[in-house]
Amino acid sequence: MRTIAVIARKGGSGKTTLAVHLAIAAHLRGHKVLLADADAQRSAAEVLRGRQGPGPEVVETTGSKLFTLQVAAVRNAVDTMIIDTPAVLEDELGHSIVVSDLSLLVIRPTFLDIAAALRTAEVIRRLRKPGLIVLNQAPAPREGVEPPAVKRALEALMLMRLPVAPLILRARANYQSVLESGRSVEELDPANPAAREMGALWGFVERLVYGRRTGERTEA
Ligand SMILES: Nc1ncnc2c1ncn2[C@@H]1O[C@H](COP(=O)(O)OP(=O)(O)OP(=O)(O)O)[C@@H](O)[C@H]1O
Ligand SMILES: [Mg+2]
Repeated sequence: MRTIAVIARKGGSGKTTLAVHLAIAAHLRGHKVLLADADAQRSAAEVLRGRQGPGPEVVETTGSKLFTLQVAAVRNAVDTMIIDTPAVLEDELGHSIVVSDLSLLVIRPTFLDIAAALRTAEVIRRLRKPGLIVLNQAPAPREGVEPPAVKRALEALMLMRLPVAPLILRARANYQSVLESGRSVEELDPANPAAREMGALWGFVERLVYGRRTGERTEA
């Protein structure tokens, strides 16, 4: 089993959106998935309660219970555990980072998000755990050229000394509308740009944590 935490101390950066999407991405490729909702807001649990049909299992938990939950998940033959975390200072994120094979640091391309994430990146490095930065809610390129805010953000992210995902998640209305039915952009229309970027991000993440592709999409 592999565990992936989605973290950011900034509220609203897209942790829950990404955690739910990655959980469904793994489910669509045949994984048995557990989404551990470690945020007292319970947004991820709320989203998945609205889902009809098969999907990731969701458990409401807290940081200090994650290890026990992980042991139980291994016993229950879960393939992938995704942790949605609250927007809190790094001290409270330690459990999530420590139990995970990869921590995804979700950052919007803004000065305040990047400034806040510097310290989080430092904590991931100090704990000697693998981390990956995912830029989210980025404006779209114009005629193939990244907007200045994205260029500046990519330059600033170099200072974090953590790898940056080669896929940038753009600000798209689809990410907002799908969650009310507990679905992923990949389940809307596999050809839409959001589905393509999310599928590609999952592919990148799974190669990092599993060292290989683990399965093709099987379900519409
Ligand atoms: N790529 C995106 N494009 C458009 N909207 C997005 C995108 N990612 C997230 N959002 C929207 O941004 C808002 C915040 O997202 P989300 O709840 O996932 O963030 P969060 O980091 O989990 O917030 P919190 O810190 O409150 O837990 C939501 O309205 C969500 O629909
Ligand atoms: Mg959230």
